[in-house]
Amino acid sequence: MSKFLIANWKMNGSIELLDNFINNFEFNDNIIMGLPYIFLGYANSRNKNIILSAQDCSIQNGYGSYTGDISSDLLKSIGVRYVIIAHSERRSLHNENGDIISKKIKNALSSGLKVIYCVSEEYDRQIQTEILDDDFDRDNIIVAYEPVSAIGTGVVPSIDNIKNVTSKIKEKYRMKVIYGGSVNSKNIKDIIGIDSIDGVLVGGASLKIDEMQEMSKYC
Ligand code: PGA
Repeated sequence: MSKFLIANWKMNGSIELLDNFINNFEFNDNIIMGLPYIFLGYANSRNKNIILSAQDCSIQNGYGSYTGDISSDLLKSIGVRYVIIAHSERRSLHNENGDIISKKIKNALSSGLKVIYCVSEEYDRQIQTEILDDDFDRDNIIVAYEPVSAIGTGVVPSIDNIKNVTSKIKEKYRMKVIYGGSVNSKNIKDIIGIDSIDGVLVGGASLKIDEMQEMSKYC
């Protein structure tokens, strides 16, 4: 199988944990590490083969006087290849609306980053209002279907539900689709086996090297 295993460390981790991964984990081309900003440059300088993702980027493009912001161009300049945009935690805790999300996606694509674009149970409305026109190169967007009810709760929807939603998104919107929400080494086999799924986005379990090693066997 060749499917994405995307780690999303969120606001967690440490240099010690990252060193442990760099020294002991078997990275390959299907594994993408979504690290806090502060670890990205370090990870890249230690091992150029690790595929890195940021967990967000600024709405501002390029460079400029935007204290505290990190643009997609800055990310690209240190070897980052992906960026997670519109995670439900950013939608709810930072009030990211459709306009903000569209702009961030557009900026990221124009900087040459690939986008891991998160949607929830409201995927139809979100995709229709946020992925706007031909400027959005759908080949470089991976849709992450992450039901809010499944994030960090241990409550995964049925395989049928994941299958129905992801195949619908794939056919209707012509983008790659992954699933996220309480994925771990115990349930990944059934989830990753769904035909319409191109991979998984993993939060909590991605902080454990043993879990990641086990999950990588299926990807
Ligand atoms: P979880 O998080 O695996 O801890 O549920 C997934 C995510 O929010 O991306």
